[in-house]
Amino acid sequence: MEHTQWYKDRVFYQIWPRSFKDGNGDGMGDLWGVYEKLDYIKSLGVGGIWFSPLYPSPGVDCGYDISDYMDIAPEYGGMEAFEKVLEGAHARDIKVIMDLVVNHTSSQHEWFQKSRRRIEPYTDYYIWRPARPGGGLPNNWDSLFEGKAWQFDELRGEYYLHLFAVEQPDLNMDNPLVREEVKKILRFWLDKGVDGFREDVITFISKTEGLPNDRLMPASRGLLLYNNGPHLLEYLTEFYDGALADYDCMTLAEGPMINVKKALRYIEEKPGKVIDMIIQFECMSADCIATDYIHTPFSLRRLKRAWTKWQKGLAGKAWNMLYLENHDHPRVISRYGSEKYRVLSGKTLAAAYLFQQGTPFVYQGQEIGMTNWYPADPEMYEDVQTRWQYFHKATKRSPEKRLKRLWDASRDSARTPVQWTDGPKAGFTEGEPWFYLNENYKEVNVAAAEADPDSLLHFYRRAIALRQSLPAVRSGSYRAFDAFSGKRCVYAREGEGQRLLVVCAFSEAEQRFRAPAGFDLSAAKLVLQNYSDAPQGKLRPYECRVYLWA
Ligand code: GLC
Ligand code: CA
Repeated sequence: MEHTQWYKDRVFYQIWPRSFKDGNGDGMGDLWGVYEKLDYIKSLGVGGIWFSPLYPSPGVDCGYDISDYMDIAPEYGGMEAFEKVLEGAHARDIKVIMDLVVNHTSSQHEWFQKSRRRIEPYTDYYIWRPARPGGGLPNNWDSLFEGKAWQFDELRGEYYLHLFAVEQPDLNMDNPLVREEVKKILRFWLDKGVDGFREDVITFISKTEGLPNDRLMPASRGLLLYNNGPHLLEYLTEFYDGALADYDCMTLAEGPMINVKKALRYIEEKPGKVIDMIIQFECMSADCIATDYIHTPFSLRRLKRAWTKWQKGLAGKAWNMLYLENHDHPRVISRYGSEKYRVLSGKTLAAAYLFQQGTPFVYQGQEIGMTNWYPADPEMYEDVQTRWQYFHKATKRSPEKRLKRLWDASRDSARTPVQWTDGPKAGFTEGEPWFYLNENYKEVNVAAAEADPDSLLHFYRRAIALRQSLPAVRSGSYRAFDAFSGKRCVYAREGEGQRLLVVCAFSEAEQRFRAPAGFDLSAAKLVLQNYSDAPQGKLRPYECRVYLWA
């Protein structure tokens, strides 16, 4: 079947279902809530939804621990509600992609329960190893969430590998039966009518043979031995040929630590391409050391360097996925913008990424400028990784320092319920929300943003409509200016008889600004801005402007 690459003309919206909208009053977001909000999603100008996992799950990692791949969790409304949402989305010309989480399952998955008991054919579905002589762990790898990557199972009398939580055992992808299961899952959902997949930590599925000790990395030991492993391309090819090739679908692979060169192995547009887009992490590392989220001051230069690297690196060869937020990172205004200039900086951030080449993703709440959450008590955090960091890691550091670190780094900041109104429970639920609300919901909410023509929400709508109307954004060249400026981001897109100049200030202080040589602003049309006028020669705090020559 021909792959029409429909994703190149669409903007996606990511839904993290627990916190999007509760439809039945039990305090937990669900598909009934999504159904209610389909028109809202459409009103953003969006043409696709990525659903974080909706499958039955014990919820140790909020759904990324799946216990049944072929169903929808009852608390989200089950298959019936999903089919209704899918139909409602398609009726609005919104594509739907699912999260495919096959590096690991939940320990409650039937496969794991049978594997522990050595019931065939499941015995080798997971990565089991006996203790080393003397009782030691099979190797020195670390879990990315909690402690070491090995857990002893009494029933089986062996250790199993878990790169994430203890309750997320890694599948043994070297077993052809497991790969058959993956293809079955892909076909199941594609046959149901979904349009593609976001593939969770898919670059981790092929571990180095023999599972050797890691002698290089001081932390996250093992990462270099299982990320982009020896059989990854082969397995992705098998999934492509054995399932994806038969459907006009799209795939988006999560690629921690990936660089352009490695990404091209999978996404380069030539025969043998097995993935459509990659979620790279370089754009998420402008204020931290990514592997362990150690906070560093925000560096606009670092961010621009990452953007330019991917824009240039994929130009004419492959397609970028663009994002500022998802469920794994704190809120971007708090990180790269300014809470003091919440709306202005939110707009500048939006303009800075929406006019690059690629398919933009907007994460729920990003469009109204939700910000980080600063709970006073570490017990209020829910996320398994966050809790481990506070309660078990670096415990010699003071509680204040550790709490501050969570404020900077915890992914729970992106997981508080979406703020719909300034009413009770922010309009998220009629019951008791499963998680805390960000206290700023009285001010920051969808209803208030709808009512204010200058809101970030309306700016997103305008910016998305504009990008969709400009062929130069889809296929023009990309040229970055002022690479050494730590205070502004300036780039041009040129092609299809159009020229676009995007100018974004990232500073609370006013700065001088002169257009790059050859760009005559007096001949341009100012098609998007976040102030009501545009004086020459300067940029005000977090000012952004998009100029068009056509
Ligand atoms: C991915 C997901 C994250 C999850 C992890 C383990 O990084 O985005 O939320 O915890 O994989 O599945
Ligand atoms: Ca609910």
